[in-house]
Amino acid sequence: MARSGGRAFIKRLVAKMTLEEKVGQLTMVSAELARTGPTFAPVTLDSVKQGRVGSILNLWGRQRVRELQRIAAEESRLKIPLFFGLDVVHGYQTIFPISLGETCAFDCKLWEQTARAAAEEAAADGIDLTFAPMIDVSRDPRWGRTSEGPGEDAWLASRFAQAKVRGFQSRSLGEANAIGATAKHLAGYGAVRAGLEYAQVDVSDRRMQELYLPPFRAAVDEAVAAIMPAFIDLNGVPMTANAGILRDIVRDQWGFAGVMISDYAAVSELIAHGVAKDPAEAAALALAAGVDIDMVGGTFAKGLPQALERGLVTIGAIDAAVSRVLELKAKLGLFDDPYIRCTEAAAPKPDDDARRKRRELARQAARRSIVLLKNDGGLLPLRGGGQTIAVIGPLAAAGAELAWSITGPSNEAKSILDSLRAALTASAISFTPGCEIDRIDEGGKAKAMEIARQSDVAVLCLGETPQMSGEAGSRARPSLPAAQSELALAILALEKPVIVLLYSGRPLVLPDELAAKADALVALWFPGAGGGPAVSDILSGDFNPTGRLCMSWPVDVGQIPIFYGQRPTGRPASPDDHFTSKYLDLPIEPLFCFGHGLSYGRFEISDLRVDRPQLRAGETLDVEADIANLGAVAGEETIFLFARDPLASIARPMLELKDFRRVALAPGERATISFRLATDELRFLGPDFLPKLEAGSIDIHVGQSAARDKLLRARVTIVVEES
Ligand code: GLC
Repeated sequence: MARSGGRAFIKRLVAKMTLEEKVGQLTMVSAELARTGPTFAPVTLDSVKQGRVGSILNLWGRQRVRELQRIAAEESRLKIPLFFGLDVVHGYQTIFPISLGETCAFDCKLWEQTARAAAEEAAADGIDLTFAPMIDVSRDPRWGRTSEGPGEDAWLASRFAQAKVRGFQSRSLGEANAIGATAKHLAGYGAVRAGLEYAQVDVSDRRMQELYLPPFRAAVDEAVAAIMPAFIDLNGVPMTANAGILRDIVRDQWGFAGVMISDYAAVSELIAHGVAKDPAEAAALALAAGVDIDMVGGTFAKGLPQALERGLVTIGAIDAAVSRVLELKAKLGLFDDPYIRCTEAAAPKPDDDARRKRRELARQAARRSIVLLKNDGGLLPLRGGGQTIAVIGPLAAAGAELAWSITGPSNEAKSILDSLRAALTASAISFTPGCEIDRIDEGGKAKAMEIARQSDVAVLCLGETPQMSGEAGSRARPSLPAAQSELALAILALEKPVIVLLYSGRPLVLPDELAAKADALVALWFPGAGGGPAVSDILSGDFNPTGRLCMSWPVDVGQIPIFYGQRPTGRPASPDDHFTSKYLDLPIEPLFCFGHGLSYGRFEISDLRVDRPQLRAGETLDVEADIANLGAVAGEETIFLFARDPLASIARPMLELKDFRRVALAPGERATISFRLATDELRFLGPDFLPKLEAGSIDIHVGQSAARDKLLRARVTIVVEES
């Protein structure tokens, strides 16, 4: 009989398992090809043979995977296959932009395509499941993992989550080139105190329900295979032991039947959190909350047998977790063919065409993730030939070290300097680093000033290295490193045209003078293997930038957390009234708002109209507006649809994103953009956190960013029939 994975098969299999074998299925152990947390004893062949390990992370390569899989699937007593997990977050061999950058593309199709490409490459190398997408909303650039996430908005993060799950999981998890997706890190991780990694999180139930949980609900609705709880404690309850969310909401209310995989050693860390006195208590708390797999740390292995003896857990709860893990393996096709992703045959060398397509996709993704923040005097795009260009900065010649994934740097990444030299052949391009990432030297600065003096325009390549963001990458001062600010200000003092390119894993706080005096400012994020060519495509005008900020860009760290969806205050800011909501020493608006991004064109939106003045439950509202390309070049504009409920039983945000459209127009071309908004999308969570539709006015806004003063507005009225 085929080794299927049906419920009867799994029930029979569980019935045969010893307690040690059951706990083995709930134990994930790290191999040593990558290190993604504190060091623990690596996986051993004997532990696999004895059935004490159910899954492995941080191992890749068909042969290596196949060897361990062979031991589990052919030599262990019950021949239960392993599954192999890895952080395939923004690409595998082909490296795409970090998620914070890719989200700025506002392109669901692109998000799915890059996940699909990553899944194909990872599955061909033995990976069954990725610990991605990371869908933690963040409004705090101090937090290093802002770089891994989809920005500040829950609705956008939800679309990102669903596109990534579709891309990774394809049509069926049983396909050889599909990999399981893991929605992480459930939830509220982006609200760590003061942006401090792993710190406590204190968030209201309302904020959880309106902001941090919706992307995970969206992933569950898209049939995500696994969920990973966050390291943090939420209001005093560590997420790894948070039954109120993992079990009561995610499993019971949302119906999530997949596998919960703890974060790295997070079960054992319940002791450090101070909620468990020993491994037995930690294991019991995690299992009861709904965690099925203990990633590294061996706390389930050590603690569950003791917890069973002490009556802290039941064998039924253990069996339920084991069944979910076996069901995941069945869905991944591993019972039918344990070698589905690590077949004997050498990985199909992606033919040149496939690799070329992926490189092109990486370049396209990089182009679309880059945001043109400022372009005074139309300095960009650079004119054609004959210009002398001084390329300055410690990141100008950086290549592979900026395009990285868990499997290492990408040898395909070209630096900005090499890309500009290849693209702008008619221009004389000089280069000097000018300083190190965070160390200035007078000689370097002087050299930089000298080549800038001798050039028509200076291109400054500044920012962070990848090590300055990501996990354990919190920065209390999320600013451009001081040495680079000093270099930039010295160049700006020459009164030459200056373009500042910023690599970063977050919106970087910039010196006021730099933000004011730079003629052009471009956010690159970490754009992946296609980053260098994408930058030269944009600077040369070969690509008209389309990126839009998915996260507000603060003037200063003192504004953080800053985001567009603030609720109104009882005392809106007024320069004429002292007693109103504003700072004495900073503006209250960000340097660049959510949705901001320039192109080389000029688009105008006009004539917002709706197809009805009133809306009832179950109806939809058609929203239209006209858009014209008034510029001289073809381009693409992103238009946002926001709603605002000015009067409700709960104070509502000043704007809520409901949809977006991208439209490409030739010079002089006009078009109509249309949205369809269901009344249901205008519900909000009432006092009981149940969706509620209230009678009254709703403002519908359409515009090119969350800058409220530039939005078009139409008002409709919700009519609620008395039941
Ligand atoms: C890390 C991260 C998590 C990752 C896991 C496995 O600590 O928190 O995002 O998936 O360990 O590498």
